[in-house]
Amino acid sequence: MAGYLLSPARVGAVDIMPGFAIVLFMEEQNRCDVIIENIQSKEAALNELEHSYKNITDIINVTQRSIRGFDPITFDYSASNDNLLLNLLKDTNEPPGRKPEYILLTHRENQNLTGNIFYKKDGRLIRIPAKIQIDSNADFAITFSFKDDYKKRFSSIDNEIVISNWDDGADDINGYQKLFDPKVREHVGTISNFVTYYSDDIAVIAFNYGKHVNEYDAQLIKGLVAHSNFLKTISEQAKITENAFMYTIEALSRAAEANDEATYSHTIRVNEYARAIAVQLKMPAPFINDISNFAQMHDIGKIHVNRSILRKPGRLTGDEVSEMQLHTIYGAKIIGNVKRLEMAEEIVIAHHDKFNGGGYPYNKKGGDIPLAAQITALADVYDALRSKRHYKPAFSHDKTYGIITVGDGRTSPEDFAPVVLDAFKQVHKQCADIHFEIQDDKIEHEDFTKEHCQEELLCTP
Ligand SMILES: [Fe+2]
Ligand SMILES: [Fe+2]
Repeated sequence: MAGYLLSPARVGAVDIMPGFAIVLFMEEQNRCDVIIENIQSKEAALNELEHSYKNITDIINVTQRSIRGFDPITFDYSASNDNLLLNLLKDTNEPPGRKPEYILLTHRENQNLTGNIFYKKDGRLIRIPAKIQIDSNADFAITFSFKDDYKKRFSSIDNEIVISNWDDGADDINGYQKLFDPKVREHVGTISNFVTYYSDDIAVIAFNYGKHVNEYDAQLIKGLVAHSNFLKTISEQAKITENAFMYTIEALSRAAEANDEATYSHTIRVNEYARAIAVQLKMPAPFINDISNFAQMHDIGKIHVNRSILRKPGRLTGDEVSEMQLHTIYGAKIIGNVKRLEMAEEIVIAHHDKFNGGGYPYNKKGGDIPLAAQITALADVYDALRSKRHYKPAFSHDKTYGIITVGDGRTSPEDFAPVVLDAFKQVHKQCADIHFEIQDDKIEHEDFTKEHCQEELLCTP
């Protein structure tokens, strides 16, 4: 444009009417500035759009990964939030951009917002250990969402979001700092902007983006928190269902004991021995969780065996032995062909099979016997030996350990899978403790059942 203005024809016009030419020149100059400004702002907008697109793509990938690996029973809300924070925050090595430097993650405790500040360094999420506690009634920017007049003071989209840049209203950045709790400033330093998202019980406050914050930044946080809360809700509902399911399993196992000599504490102890052995074998968490609940079902088939056989003081006849042995098959029929009870069915049908053969009902051997059944078999034998029966007294731990590892003519170490026997040898003292701790006279059935079930689910790694 400048070349056009200074063309010979124009120069001539300037000579004739210099004042008019100067006005023309000024107008053209202004138009040029506007055009350049437009180009610059379009470039900035394109730049921003590109960053936003990259951010959205990153976040979609994060949410996709979290859904792909989602297990409602083992879902860890805290770990899920850590992962989101890791993806939201700018790394200290990265140049300033569309991501915040710090995030304060809080939850409501009475009238306070309590939480920790996070930042990202060398790809790792760092949590500043000092707990931040802010009174919801205090006159600080991040608590304005609790007050009626906060909309007047901050650009706000809805009741859940606050967006603020220091130069939107404050005279200088130093004055802006007065809006923040000193405990926050101590860790974050000079604050130039922030975005806050409030849900029912948590507040996420992101500080110091490398540019002006806007609705996009707030909606991004809101979306991620909503995603995490959605997974949490599904997980909580699944855990309630799972608890009810496990309680039913226990009730069924208890019903089967009504006719039998074995006690309620026997089934709980078998669960615990089986868990200890499975942990020693370094089995995956879902396997450990399942065997810790399903081992107790091993004798549910006895519900169909005549009480006179189950409690007969003398030796059983051949027919009675055959009938007794059918409890494995009866149990499998009770369970049926249900995917979630697959392990329970394996345990019920095969817990009397022996590693070297000679067991029942199908005389399976070695690797043909499911591992869960092999573990439960050893756990059941240990507890039967430790318990009083009409045909024998309760044996000590040492005597029982000797019978299992050396044999006594009835029981032989070859009955058990070598890996399971080795694991038992590593945890046998733990088994002795379990036997000591879990006795009928020490537990209140219903309460124990509920707490036990809850603990199983919550403690799953
Ligand atoms: Fe049995
Ligand atoms: Fe048993």
